[in-house]
Amino acid sequence: MSDLYAVFGNPIAHSKSPDIHHAFAAQTQQNLVYEKRLPELGGFADAVQQLLADGGLGANVTVPFKHDAYDLVDELSDLAQRAGAVNTIEVIENGKLKGHNTDGLGLVRDLTVNIGVELKGKRVLLLGAGGAARGVMQPLLAEDTAKLIVSNRTKEKGLQLARDFGDCGFTCGTGFDELKDKPFDVIINATAASLSGDVPPINPGVIAAETVCYDMMYSNEPTAFLKWCAEQGATLLHDGLGMLVEQAAEAFAIWRGVRPDTQVVMAQMRP
Ligand code: ATR
Repeated sequence: MSDLYAVFGNPIAHSKSPDIHHAFAAQTQQNLVYEKRLPELGGFADAVQQLLADGGLGANVTVPFKHDAYDLVDELSDLAQRAGAVNTIEVIENGKLKGHNTDGLGLVRDLTVNIGVELKGKRVLLLGAGGAARGVMQPLLAEDTAKLIVSNRTKEKGLQLARDFGDCGFTCGTGFDELKDKPFDVIINATAASLSGDVPPINPGVIAAETVCYDMMYSNEPTAFLKWCAEQGATLLHDGLGMLVEQAAEAFAIWRGVRPDTQVVMAQMRP
């Protein structure tokens, strides 16, 4: 019988996670089935119980259940603890659940390995201060960035997020309107603006031709943010597909003890 895993989200129909994990499994000769599951809002804990009753060995968790997962699990990894959110659940001994967060590692691996950006000593601008931004703070700062500016529409939330991670490296918060005419080495969009086709209203002076512009969202068309960056003269444009595949690879390694080759799978996922 195949080992069972699932991804929980609402909505979930368009998730690429089953395709990614099945590709990893084929590549590493693992016998597993990975399903999409759609809990009702408020029904996350029941859905996890059902997966366990079905013999599930682990799960991924996406919007809007990452906080429910954080509350539900018995143990947390350090990264999940700091992120305040869980995107990967591992069934450990005695049926206990351990929560991990692989989002930040996935982003950093995509930037440093796939895109080839050295983050050490770089000026990095992170747009947004919600759950997506919080999840990547510690892994970004662990790369020894020179400065990580968190800029958010609601300035106070940006300040708070930077304060919460002040022990991990040099980071500070600002409002969008305080960004000066000084280009960053890397700009990462972690706002939910792309969902509605909006672009955070930031000073175009933060972008130079050689600025790496990264949108944590992905879609078949260039995202609104990446289109805007290109209009400002940026040439190094990347969406979040690589992050998606890399965070999945981290989860796969936790569950299966083997790290898949992500390059091949990323090429397969790109339409
Ligand atoms: P997620 O888990 O996706 O991060 P979230 O926790 O609700 O979702 O956070 C959404 C983030 O996107 C916030 O930083 C939000 O800014 P506010 O803190 O000011 O609400 C940001 N955001 C959402 N829509 C935006 C828009 N149209 N322009 C700029 N920022 C936006």
